[in-house]
This record gives sequence, structure tokens and C-alpha cells, in this order.
Amino acid sequence: MLIAYENVGKTFETLEGDLTAVRDVNLAVRRGEFVTLVGPSGCGKSTLLNMAAGLFAPTVGTVRYDGEEVAPYNQRVGYMTQNDHLLPWRDARDNVLVPLEIRGMGRGEAQDRVDELLEQLGLKGFERAYPSQLSGGMKKRTALARLLAYDPEALLMDEPFGALDAQLRLKMQIEILRLARTLRKTVVFVTHDLDEAVSLADRTAVFSARPGTIIRVVDVPLGEERDLLTLRRDSAYRDLTAELWDHLSPTVDHAEG
Ligand SMILES: Nc1ncnc2c1ncn2[C@@H]1O[C@H](COP(=O)(O)OP(=O)(O)OP(=O)(O)O)[C@@H](O)[C@H]1O
Ligand SMILES: [Mg+2]
Repeated sequence: MLIAYENVGKTFETLEGDLTAVRDVNLAVRRGEFVTLVGPSGCGKSTLLNMAAGLFAPTVGTVRYDGEEVAPYNQRVGYMTQNDHLLPWRDARDNVLVPLEIRGMGRGEAQDRVDELLEQLGLKGFERAYPSQLSGGMKKRTALARLLAYDPEALLMDEPFGALDAQLRLKMQIEILRLARTLRKTVVFVTHDLDEAVSLADRTAVFSARPGTIIRVVDVPLGEERDLLTLRRDSAYRDLTAELWDHLSPTVDHAEG
């Protein structure tokens, strides 16, 4: 197990009193596995990623990474939030360079690595463009390149493609699936989109409304070589999305926002 939640609960102290975001969460993510998390808004999905990243500890239970309790901060994971957080005053290449600078990698080696990543993600020719000059999809790909520049073992992704239109989202899904397979990454991926949850996953965890807990973990045996362009016509795929919807629909009335 690379990432394991053991009886995890998290309660925040707020001005209005204690707020329990998640409770009794048990989930073990194997090395190399792609797990998607779905559940109503406010059920604690981001809270769970934050704990795996070591941003804060659970109130009860344990979050482990590679067998050890996660301590602040977990340097072995890369975290991509819904917001790109690209630095507006740096061009694409210099944005991707940030983690390598922090790591102290020599300028020449770092530049080569960055250019390789930008090329891999289809950004060749845009190295010198600033975020304001990049399209939404290009910004996402730049953020993804920066995430991969760390070469983290595991990727925590919080609705990374939520703001993209359907076509771009599909393109990014194909990209992340290809990268996860070829680079052998472990991925925990939060999404609101049930199609996305099934398309990408080896397993999907479905959460209840807050305090969020796992209602069901669904195996997604669609194979490593699945073709996202034709998957929607696959009856196994359709059955799986319908199954997820059946688990999720009773929670709709309790969603926040
Ligand atoms: N640092 C914090 N302090 C206080 N309350 C918090 C904090 N972080 C999260 N919460 C609360 O915990 C609950 C779960 O939040 P979280 O962001 O994890 O939900 P989520 O499942 O990611 O929701 P969404 O799908 O809308 O992103 C919410 O009610 C939120 O207001
Ligand atoms: Mg969230």
C-alpha cells in the first residue's frame, strides 16, 4: 500500500463550532493504482488529499504513506489543485522550472528536463509564453508539467480538469492516463464527473454527504489499454457509470452549495 487511510476522521474547529468533514474513512491505494474519489460537494474529498499531502493531520485515525504516518509535508507526492497557481510573471518554461530550482538542480540540467516535459505535453513552441498568453488547456498542461518536474511517486489531483470544456477535458484525460501508465505513477484523483471517475480509474470510491465516509468502492475493470475515445460505447463502461450514479444519487439532497 502506498497511501492508506485507517479509520480517518477530521474535525475542524470553526467560529460556529466543530465541523466534522470526514469520518471513518478506510481506503488503501496500491502503488501504481489510479483511484478516483467522487462525492457531493463538502463531503471532505479535498480534506483527504490535504492529509495525504501532510498539510494537516487527521483528528482521529492515521494516514500512512508507504507504511509511515504522514508528517508535514509529504515530499513524495505532487499535488495539483483546481487552481493552476501558475506564477503570472514567469513564462511557461520558468514556471515548470520552479520545483527544480527549489531542489537546487543545476541550470543546464533543469532547462533540459523542463524542455523535455513541455515537449511531452505538447507545449513545444510555447516555452516563452506567459500564463496570460496561454489557453485554459495549455495552462493545465503547464501545471501538469510542473507537477511532473518534481517526479513525485504519487499524484494527488483535485478536480484538475473541472474548468475545461468537454473536448479539452477528454484530451487531458487521455494525457494523464498515458502519463500515469508510462511513468508508473500512483494517482488519487478527485472529480465531480462520474464519466471521468470511471474513465480513468482502476477503482472509484464513492462518498456520502458530510461528514463524508466511503459508501462504496467500485472496481473498474476496463483494462490498462482502454481507449477513452470509444469507451462511451462500451456497455461495461455504461453499467459502471450507472452503478456509480445509483450509489451517489441518494446523497444529492445533502450536498452543500
Ligand atoms: N481548513 C478548514 N477549516 C474549517 N473548515 C474546513 C476547512 N477545510 C475544509 N473545511 C470544511 O470541511 C468540509 C469538507 O471540505 P472539503 O473542501 O474537503 O470538501 P470537498 O468534498 O472537497 O468539497 P468540493 O467538492 O466542494 O470541493 C466543508 O464543510 C468545509 O467547509
Ligand atoms: Mg474539494
